[in-house]
Amino acid sequence: MKFISVAIDGPVGAGKSTAARECAKRLGFVYCDTGALYRAVGLYCVRNGIDPKNPSGCTERIKVEISLIDGVQHVFLNGEDVSEDIRLPEISMAASAVSAAAEVRKALLGIQRDIAANNNVVMDGRDIGTVVLPNADVKVFLTAKPEIRAKRRYDELVKKGVETTFEEVLRDLNERDYNDSHRAEAPLKQAEDAVLADTSELDFEQSVELICRIVNNVRERRNVL
Ligand code: DC
Repeated sequence: MKFISVAIDGPVGAGKSTAARECAKRLGFVYCDTGALYRAVGLYCVRNGIDPKNPSGCTERIKVEISLIDGVQHVFLNGEDVSEDIRLPEISMAASAVSAAAEVRKALLGIQRDIAANNNVVMDGRDIGTVVLPNADVKVFLTAKPEIRAKRRYDELVKKGVETTFEEVLRDLNERDYNDSHRAEAPLKQAEDAVLADTSELDFEQSVELICRIVNNVRERRNVL
């Protein structure tokens, strides 16, 4: 059986994960947040005093797994559910650093491809349309202006009770975007055949509708899905 895959890539805070999760729900697809995998490796480095910029040998000592519990993605690091711990701001930066390592990217590639090989999936990340699933049925590159993305991320963190400032969030976001798009291995970039979607002026519902519309347009056009 051929499963359908929807690849959603884009920079930090473009609304990928929230919009992709809701789209998956509406389409009846599995949602896979690939950033969580890199975050788990980043968490391992932070916890064990390993420089995330040099995680050499790390992947031999860790097992990262994803599983769906009541339709919600959980991430396990050596058997421990770390779904909450990976969301801290310092882990975001560590995740961005480890994600530049070829060894880490190679170790996580199979997990992502396996999910797409066995499910109808909406998968979000940085290199899904370019590297992980180059033959994805639908590719969307989701973005928004940096200040708008930083404001969204800032509001999210404040809601969770994390102490931070807008300036700090904007600085981190710009740094992560720079790292993610300038690394040698699978840098963040729009796939040639991806549809560009700018959510700067859109609210959550409008972003979800836009992505679902893109998916449905491609499905109709190709008449295969
Ligand atoms: O989407 P996120 O913010 O949770 O991702 C955390 C980091 O992981 C991000 O800064 C870059 C990296 N990442 C990646 O390199 N490739 C992916 N497919 C997903 C995330």
